[in-house]
Formats: sequence, structure tokens, C-alpha cells
Amino acid sequence: MPISDSMPAAAPRHTAVVGLQWGDEGKGKLVDILASDHDFIVRYNGGANAGHTVVVGDERYALHLVPSGILVPGCTCVVANGVVIDPAKILEEIDGLRARNIEVGDNLRISSRAHVVMPYHQALDGALEEFLAGRSGSGAIGTTRRGIGPAYADKVQRSTAIRVNDLLRPKVLEQKLDLICPLREAQLRSLGVPLDDAKVDAAQMLDHALTLGERLSPHVCDTTWLLHDALAADQRILFEGANACLLDVDHGTYPFVTSSNCSTLGIPAGTGVPLGHIDRVLGIMKAYSTRVGGGPFPTELDNAVGDRIREKGREFGTTTGRPRRCGWLDLVAVRYTAMVCGVTGIACTLFDVLGGLDEVQLCIGYRLPDGTVTDRFPADAFDLDTVEPVYETMPGWEDPQDRPTDRDSLPDAARAYLDRVEAFVGVPIEIVGIGPERSEVLVAS
Ligand code: GDP
Ligand code: IMO
Ligand code: MG
Repeated sequence: MPISDSMPAAAPRHTAVVGLQWGDEGKGKLVDILASDHDFIVRYNGGANAGHTVVVGDERYALHLVPSGILVPGCTCVVANGVVIDPAKILEEIDGLRARNIEVGDNLRISSRAHVVMPYHQALDGALEEFLAGRSGSGAIGTTRRGIGPAYADKVQRSTAIRVNDLLRPKVLEQKLDLICPLREAQLRSLGVPLDDAKVDAAQMLDHALTLGERLSPHVCDTTWLLHDALAADQRILFEGANACLLDVDHGTYPFVTSSNCSTLGIPAGTGVPLGHIDRVLGIMKAYSTRVGGGPFPTELDNAVGDRIREKGREFGTTTGRPRRCGWLDLVAVRYTAMVCGVTGIACTLFDVLGGLDEVQLCIGYRLPDGTVTDRFPADAFDLDTVEPVYETMPGWEDPQDRPTDRDSLPDAARAYLDRVEAFVGVPIEIVGIGPERSEVLVAS
């Protein structure tokens, strides 16, 4: 049954789906579920650092740049201007989907304004990480090494950036690469990277980029006008957040963040759709916490419970395969991200993973070095690193024998956990995830 059938009569027209933790909350699954209620599915930030998993029956799809609505016939998927696009990666993804008989044609539109991730961006990303790890031990961010930071840095720097439109203009691209390649070569040499000409030779780079641009060209358009035409035609839009609010470059655990505005605040700049159009913001929150890469994580469980959550939740990165760090649900963090993102409802995913524990803990405050307790999330990683979590302990529950059909059919202790989360965050839980498959959700009536 489509979720729209169980929603109130005046269903919201434009929806944002956003991660409320450090990523991998199950955004891809929720976008896939909600896609059938929308005409356009729009990615507004990030790049191939994202890994969104959608499970349909026995089939598992890992999407990185292509929006997770691509599996739903009739949806137009848009990669908008705020995304940084690795042309080789998105073409590989398109080929992979087509090989599995998923239609990818006019239903995928790519912004001509989006910025391009080039091979030297990836080389720089890796080289900077090595440099930082070697210098300070813990200074490295633990990036996905997909070139995200260097590509956004070029975007802001301006004169050394390449946009998707440039891939379709050989003369402009040639001039840009003649300027950029020697700069990148010098930079990579200074970082001691063994140089592979394919990454910094302007002529080779031009050939490579033009070939990829030609293949992408049928999908490229001005997505700002496309989306405004859709709004004028009263079509429904779903904005798909990548990464998550605690990784937002302005509002996350800086500097251990990614390089874009992954919160809903990134939507206007990343799409050209102005503020005020979105009437539903669904915050995706795992029933516990995970984090990949470096940075403080107050509720991290470096013990058998953490290992158990990792195994049961299959907490290994969709993009890099790295084991995810696991911990208890941090309500201080989630209340903050729900506030920053303007969340109207929560989807609590991976709830099934908590079943079978004797007791569960919820972080409801942070003890500061001076002994006082706060429920306000701090401004950066250095402050977050100094806090001790204050927990509320609740009884655990067994995995139900029969698959639950609604929230009321969950064990008492499980319902009490969800009630406590709602009360603390101040936002209703509209959807509960009880398994990876598309149909494995409980929807509030
Ligand atoms: P995203 O990046 O936010 O889209 O999340 P990922 O796809 O990287 O990670 C979420 C993982 O949890 C994926 O393997 C999903 O298939 C899986 N998943 C999503 N919802 C549920 C759920 O409710 N229960 C379980 N067990 N797995 C889920
Ligand atoms: P989805 O969309 C989890 C993390 C990286 C690293 C930091 C910076 O699947 O939720 P970057 O390569 O972006 O410069 O890395 O951000 N990170 C993610 N962690 N899920 C993601 O995306 C992530 N995207 C970036 O692990 O710590
Ligand atoms: Mg992911």
C-alpha cells in the first residue's frame, strides 16, 4: 500500500528528507518509499561520498549520485546545482542501473551549473588525508577520498573550477585545464604524490573530460528552470539530502564534517528553489547512532554492545566499506538537528536492530568539564570532544515473534523508547523502520 494511502487527506506537496545524525540513517530507503507520492526527486548537496541503499525484494541497490527515486517509474530524478559530480562515477552508476533493467533516460536530469569532480580532486583528497594523518595522527578527517572537499574548494575559489556546462564547451574547457593542471601538478608534487599524467596532463585531461561530457550531455539542462516549471505546473517535489546535518559544513561537528550544507538549509542554494516551498521535513534518525571517519562521538560504544549493533545493523559503509562506529542514540544531537532542519516528523529507522538487548540507553544531556549539565549541542568538534554523555537507562525488549503491523503492536518497552524520543525531541515519529526492505516500515495512522 503506498504510504500516501495512510496519510491525512491533505498530503504535503513538497517534502525534504534529511539525515539527523552523521549519515547512513536510511535516507535512501525513505526516499524510495516516498518517491511514488512525488513527481521530482532532487539531490541538492554532496557527491559520490553518499551511499544510499535501497532494498526491493531480494535486490539491493547502492546509489551514490543518482537520486534514490530512480527505481520508481514515473519520477524525474534531478541532480541539482549544489551537487559535485564525478562524471565517470555517475556514468558508471547509470550503466550499472541499466544493466539491471532500471530505466535511466529522460528521467535523469543533471544541472549544467553543478560542479565537476576531476581526477586531481580525488588525488588531492587522498594526499591531504595522508599528510594530516602523518603530521598529527588524529588531524585527518577520514574522508571518503572521493574528491569532495577539493571540488567544493575550487567552486568557492571560482577561477579553478569546472562546471558541468564546461564539459560541453571544448574551447572553454581547454583554456581552464591549461590554467588548472600546472597548479594541481605543483600542489600534488609538494605533497609528495607520485604523479600519474592522466591526473594532471592538460591534453589528456581534456580528452577524458570531453568524452565523459558527451555521454552526459543528454541529461544536462538548467535544472533551476526545470524545477520552477514543475512548481508552476503544481507538480510535487521531494528533496533528497545526502550526508547529514551533523556533517553540515556550517552546522555540523566542524571540522569533522563534509564540505556542503547537508541540512535542509542547503536546499535553496543547492537547487534554486526558494525558501518556503517545503511543507514537510522528514528527519531520518537511526534508533541508535553511527559515524564513519574521524571526529568526536560522545555516545560511542567501544565494546560488545557496539559490536553487536554493528553486526545486526550491517553497519559497514555503502561507499567505502569501512566499519561504522556505533553508539547509543544521542537525543541532544537529534533535538539540535531537528531544530536546525525544521523537522516536522521523524522516521526512526533500524529500530529492529535494538531488539534483544537487556537495556538500552538514551543520551539526554552532556556533562561539561566544569561539572554542569547542558542539553544544548555545542558549536564545534573541539567542544563536543570535552563532554560526557548523561544517560537515561530504559528496559530492553525481545525481538517480536510475529512481524509488527503497527506501532501499537510493538512490545511495551519498545513503545516506551519511541515515546521518550518523541517527548525529548518534541517532534512526532511518523515512521518506524523494522527491516531494510522497502515494505518494512510501520506508518503512523
Ligand atoms: P543512507 O545513506 O542514509 O541512505 O543510509 P545507508 O543506505 O548508507 O545505510 C542504511 C542501511 O540500513 C542500509 O544498509 C539499509 O538497507 C539499512 N536499513 C534502512 N532502514 C532499515 C531498517 O529499518 N532496519 C534495518 N535492519 N536496516 C535498515
Ligand atoms: P550518506 O549520504 C556517512 C563523512 C566521511 C568523513 C566526512 C568527510 O551515505 O549518509 P567527505 O568524503 O565528504 O569529505 O568526508 O564525512 N561522510 C559520510 N558518512 N554517510 C555519508 O553519506 C557521508 N558522507 C560523508 O566519512 O567522516
Ligand atoms: Mg549512506
